Amino acid sequence: MHVAVTGGTGLIGSHLVEHLRDRSDEATVVSRDPTGPDEIGWVVDEEGSLELPEETDAVVHLAGAPIVGQRWDEDHKRAIRDSRVQGTRRVVEAIRRHGSIDHLVSGSAVGYYGDRGDERLTEDAEPGEDFLAEVCQRWEAEAAEIADDPTVPTDVAFVRTGIVLDDEEGALAEMLNPVGPVRPFHWGLGGPVGSGEQWFPWIHVEDEVRAILHILDEGLEGPFNLVAGTQIRNKQLTSAIGDVLDRPANLPVPRFALQLLYGEAADLLFASQRVVPERLEGSGFTVRFASIDEALADLIGDGGHEPQRREKAVA
Ligand SMILES: NC(=O)c1ccc[n+]([C@@H]2O[C@H](COP(=O)([O-])OP(=O)(O)OC[C@H]3O[C@@H](n4cnc5c(N)ncnc54)[C@H](OP(=O)(O)O)[C@@H]3O)[C@@H](O)[C@H]2O)c1
Repeated sequence: MHVAVTGGTGLIGSHLVEHLRDRSDEATVVSRDPTGPDEIGWVVDEEGSLELPEETDAVVHLAGAPIVGQRWDEDHKRAIRDSRVQGTRRVVEAIRRHGSIDHLVSGSAVGYYGDRGDERLTEDAEPGEDFLAEVCQRWEAEAAEIADDPTVPTDVAFVRTGIVLDDEEGALAEMLNPVGPVRPFHWGLGGPVGSGEQWFPWIHVEDEVRAILHILDEGLEGPFNLVAGTQIRNKQLTSAIGDVLDRPANLPVPRFALQLLYGEAADLLFASQRVVPERLEGSGFTVRFASIDEALADLIGDGGHEPQRREKAVA
């Protein structure tokens, strides 16, 4: 299979490309700044700027301006929205021009559901109403255009991804970063965000990639919640990190401190999303890291955090 991966330079995309190549599939990275022989360029807001290689069978679309880890001002919110809406439009145009792409796996996020308390959120749950929920709906609607087009054979899946845990990049790496803006665990101050009662939808990066490969291999369509099957609350995450690192994890991080740092984006950390991977499990997929303790032991075990690429094993 030959897969074009937008955002193939990012956290999920780079692991996905590595796994595809490891199992002898071919991958072309679509980047705003292509650097190597297997990378092609595009200009997200320029119509017709993406030309998929003739041999492409499937597209995995992951590109978009960062949602977490940055303060949201109006410019950044516009970048979050426009990069996804316009980027997906470019992908859909390119798939139409190509004419014989079998499958599009298009990024989305559990942000689709908004802040939902203790509600059990399967793929059938109604979307939320906040900024990110609206972005996710528009992002998915752009990709759905190609599913509804009878002139092309492309099936479309949406991956509503939870917080991806990795030791090098993303939310977990940020929490453990000794030089980043939020580094509570390094100073022995780790603790839950607010009350810590909010549900925290998570997935180990290796399972995120395995799930995308499963969707590609099985030719699956429609929305999929990409989260581990075990639901945990924020306080369970912080206590599990404290256990693995052998550091205290019981001093709550107050809302105002995170609002000062991240503005409206801080709301994401307080949102409660009890997301269930119903369709993924129903399709026969099993995560390798079902419990947060196993996931953290794999990522940051041995009592310390030494960021380095692990040997990947994808079944
Ligand atoms: N990681 C998570 O926890 C998580 C959770 C839920 C959903 N997601 C979603 O899944 C997708 C992939 O996540 P990720 O963590 O791998 O993202 P990432 O590491 O931030 O990488 C995304 C890629 O998008 C491209 N990009 C960045 N800014 C852009 C912009 N303004 N316009 C167009 N492209 C831009 C970059 O590639 P180039 O610089 O090469 O163009 C970047 O490598 C994202 O859409 C993200 O929102 C991620």
